[in-house]
Amino acid sequence: MDGPASVYAPARGPGSWNFDWLLPEAATRVYSLGRWAFVDALRLAGASGRRVLLPEFICREVLAALAEVEAKPVYYPVSPGLGLAADPGALPEAKAVVAVDYFGFPQNLAPFEEYCRRTGAVLIEDNAHGALSRDGSGVPLGGRAPLGVFSPRKTVSIPDGGALAVNAANRFPPLPGPLPFTGRTPGLASFGKRRALRTIATGLGPRWTLRVIGLLRALRRLKDGRELPAPDPDGERRIPIPPEPGPAQRHGFPQDPDSEVRRRRSLYAFCAERLVGTAARPVFKELPEGTSPYGFPFRAAPEDLASIEAALAAEGLFSLPWPDLPNEVSPRAPAHYRNIRLVHFQW
Ligand SMILES: Cc1ncc(COP(=O)(O)O)c(C=O)c1O
Repeated sequence: MDGPASVYAPARGPGSWNFDWLLPEAATRVYSLGRWAFVDALRLAGASGRRVLLPEFICREVLAALAEVEAKPVYYPVSPGLGLAADPGALPEAKAVVAVDYFGFPQNLAPFEEYCRRTGAVLIEDNAHGALSRDGSGVPLGGRAPLGVFSPRKTVSIPDGGALAVNAANRFPPLPGPLPFTGRTPGLASFGKRRALRTIATGLGPRWTLRVIGLLRALRRLKDGRELPAPDPDGERRIPIPPEPGPAQRHGFPQDPDSEVRRRRSLYAFCAERLVGTAARPVFKELPEGTSPYGFPFRAAPEDLASIEAALAAEGLFSLPWPDLPNEVSPRAPAHYRNIRLVHFQW
């Protein structure tokens, strides 16, 4: 394979993996979850016990990272196009500001950079959804701000996984050394089976890949009786597992990154085609070059949901809502925070 063949080649001690191949200039550290990467990002940014600017449109679990360092969330509004919906000159001061590359699509960082110039805040690029995504100039998402947060388990077939990239190493104290691969990942037993199934389905093309994903998720829905795993009542306050990465991460990325991006892009195109003529409105007008989509995000009015799900079901698919909003945001959330659904490409 040409390109980043070094994904399996440890650069920091035998058996470990890192993001050196993706962001060769960055200092990196891996964890069990992206939330733990956030914790270190906040510490490096000096945001412990201070205010942190977060998008209102975010999953509530991210708040647990702030709680870990006793940072106080302050929110900025997000537009229907998923950019900053406020004048950066009017945002309140904070020690750090988080910009999210939603669903692996590049966020416009310019207004956030303007905010940071004015206030001295540190920009954290939250690329939890798009560990292999790049912007139009080929720069990896998560590598465009002083600090980048990743959740590679959402992109590649690993049972756990979070990572932090310190892209402006000269601005921060050194990262603590690597964590040992001693984490205990829930659901590890079924992981091998899912990975085997995935390999078979991928060989059969997008239609079958999505059908298998749909089937696996439908089984979970039958078993658990709900669309999404039940929200953890403590999810905003507590990160559910310790920071140490699990042993599966020792072996690095299990897939060739280029083929994984191709796989995701072809699944995206497949979904886009299948939803033409339905009331589903894709969140993004196009799939930019370099983008590795987390799934196929679309908007749907509640009254259109049944017909859209029927069109998806004809292909063995279904969608899930995203996100579970923070408790503080939920009661005042506008419709455009509530009507996004995602056909998942991960399993
Ligand atoms: C936008 C965003 N950032 C960060 C995270 C945290 O990632 P992890 O679940 O790996 O802790 C998530 C998912 O929970 C997310 O959706």
